[in-house]
Amino acid sequence: MAAMEQAVGPVVGSRRMVDAPTRVLHAVLAVSFFGAWLSAEAEGWRTLHVTLGYTAGAAVLLRLLWAALGPRHARLLPRLRPAWTLPVQVLEAARAGLGRARPAGGVSPAAGPAGATGASGLRLLGALHAATVAALLGATLLTVASGWLNLQGAGGEVAEELHELLGNGMLALVGLHLAGLIAASVHAGHNRLLAMLTGRLPGRGPDLVRRNHAGIALVLLATVAAFWGWRALQAPDEMVVAYEQQHEHHHGAGEAAAPGEED
Ligand code: HEM
Ligand code: HEM
Repeated sequence: MAAMEQAVGPVVGSRRMVDAPTRVLHAVLAVSFFGAWLSAEAEGWRTLHVTLGYTAGAAVLLRLLWAALGPRHARLLPRLRPAWTLPVQVLEAARAGLGRARPAGGVSPAAGPAGATGASGLRLLGALHAATVAALLGATLLTVASGWLNLQGAGGEVAEELHELLGNGMLALVGLHLAGLIAASVHAGHNRLLAMLTGRLPGRGPDLVRRNHAGIALVLLATVAAFWGWRALQAPDEMVVAYEQQHEHHHGAGEAAAPGEED
């Protein structure tokens, strides 16, 4: 059977690894994060910034919901578990790196020192990837929460600095995320980044993820579009002015809550 498939099938096959809701939520998170980061500085873009920030937070919450209620392959905990082994993997990779310098005594020629370094390097990469993803999920929620505090005019300078620090820290994490995926792609010999776009990776055999759940993905996309549309139609100036008033108030009289909040 396998031989026949090999004979008739395309030279390079692919199989589905990631379902549509996961990919849509990832894309929404990535686009919203970059948008929020780019629009962070300009006062006039505050509505855009806040809208994209909320969207990023919602994408993470919905991803956690999909992990909890969705199919088994969408679960996050099994994928994040290697994060705990990061310290051990760092030590092991360092030891393997040192071991390469001198011939190892008890190692068989087949699993030579070079092979050991490769394996421990790969485990290190896996642990780093899991830790980065876990940190990205947590950092998004913390960034959104601190941004919300800022918008309320609560927390003062500390919340402002914390929010900025978290936002920029996320950028560093995203850099690590992409660097890790590029390293994994080089190792695997194919572009691993595509898995989150097309949902497929090269390889033969059945799809690892049977159902795409495209309908759920479409509902998610429509919800995001509706939220963005609604925010764009809402008088955007009002939000900016309300924020600036609170801010002046805060700096001027040093009071905690500003009166006349809408919502
Ligand atoms: C724009 C370029 C990006 C690309 C190409 C990309 C690619 C990927 C890929 C291929 C995976 C799956 C890794 C695996 O097999 O385990 C992944 C997972 C993930 N990425 Fe990204 N990513 C990008 C940006 C971002 C950004 C900006 C964030 C967050 C702000 C982010 C957060 C995550 C999270 C939380 C996961 C794991 C959760 C899940 O499976 O849904 N990514 N990414
Ligand atoms: C992924 C989501 C977010 C990221 C990456 C992010 C990032 C940032 C960064 C880097 C700044 C500092 C800009 C500067 O240099 O002054 C900033 C400012 C700000 N953000 Fe966010 N933000 C996010 C979400 C939010 C949310 C959800 C809200 C509100 C609900 C918010 C409200 C604000 C406010 C009010 C400021 C101005 C603080 C000030 O007066 O300096 N942000 N954000």
